[in-house]
Amino acid sequence: MAVNVSELKEKFAGLFGGGGSIKAYFAPGRVNLIGEHTDYNGGHVFPCALTIGTYGVIRPRQDRKLRLFSVNFEQMGIVESSLDDLVPSEEAGWTNYPKGIFWTFEKRGYHFDNGADLLFYGDIPAGSGLSSSASLEVLTGLMLRDTFGFDISMPDLALIGQYSENNYNGMNCGIMDQFASAMGKKDCAVFLDTNTLKYEYAPVRLSDARIVITNSNVKHSLVSSAYNDRRRESETALKALQSVVDIKTLGDLTEEQFEQYKDAIQDPVCRKRAKHAVYENRRTIHAVEALKANDIVTFGKLINASHVSLRDDYETSCKETDLLAELAWEVPGVLGSRITGGGFGGCTVSIVKNESIDLFIRTLDSAYTEKTGIKAEFYVVDIGDGARALD
Ligand code: GLA
Repeated sequence: MAVNVSELKEKFAGLFGGGGSIKAYFAPGRVNLIGEHTDYNGGHVFPCALTIGTYGVIRPRQDRKLRLFSVNFEQMGIVESSLDDLVPSEEAGWTNYPKGIFWTFEKRGYHFDNGADLLFYGDIPAGSGLSSSASLEVLTGLMLRDTFGFDISMPDLALIGQYSENNYNGMNCGIMDQFASAMGKKDCAVFLDTNTLKYEYAPVRLSDARIVITNSNVKHSLVSSAYNDRRRESETALKALQSVVDIKTLGDLTEEQFEQYKDAIQDPVCRKRAKHAVYENRRTIHAVEALKANDIVTFGKLINASHVSLRDDYETSCKETDLLAELAWEVPGVLGSRITGGGFGGCTVSIVKNESIDLFIRTLDSAYTEKTGIKAEFYVVDIGDGARALD
């Protein structure tokens, strides 16, 4: 493990004092292989947990105070708050995430008499779109559940994280990121039906290939407002379709049904958004079938098609991530490459043959910097387990 847990505990004792029951936990970030912007459209997703994520150390207190410290935001020092001050604010910065989890627990009837001291450290690159906030939410939920003895399942912790992100932090995300962080499994991706929350683990057997994440190192502003716009456009399209066909979500439609009913959607932009949601859901189902049949070539082609659809129909890519995907498609030994996550910057995910990884990195590295003036970063990743106690 890259991070030394006893060092984090020592740091905790140095800041908050030693003694008592000091416990450490971890929740991973995620990369989504395929099934993008389908999770709030009743479709399927196929993410996997990473081995990078967020670490947390906790000890309950005897009073109602919350004391929060992040190694990543050391300059903010110890942020003091209380169970009686669970209101989001700009000054609260990163602490809005753990505080939102306390708030959501309370809202769901899990009451706290005592606060806690909490220390966090995350090794997910900032702004990469690899779900640092979801990992912080799931981690906090797990720590609170264990420390205060609540009986809550891991999928429910994911839902608590999503609720908090939606209602305390104002980002109207779906369930994918929190679910992957809570429920991930080593060497598997989680094939999740977001309509029913039924899931299945699918082993990611890529024979002689690996998953490579490329960080564009750009994050265009207004991500959460653009994201929330996409949600609204999808909902408008759904309403229009519901006037001609009996469906609950866009995920209920096949491609053929969409083509049959699409003219009910007047607005061409909303029509494109719905097309993406329907086709991407079907691609995800086919991609999982292909992976199970060891047909990695088809799996890769579906990944490429996902990028094209996100670029042209859902319009959540940007010129930097388009460039990374297009460069990747030209490298021999690349089976598939696409933007991953919420979009408007962040990362691409590529399936690259072992023997081509060096060439892939060299080619993209120099061409990307030459065209954009920005340095990309590359991570050849392993798939890890979901959130857990560390001792
Ligand atoms: C973000 C959200 C997820 C999901 C993806 C797009 O990561 O948090 O819920 O909608 O974007 O697939």
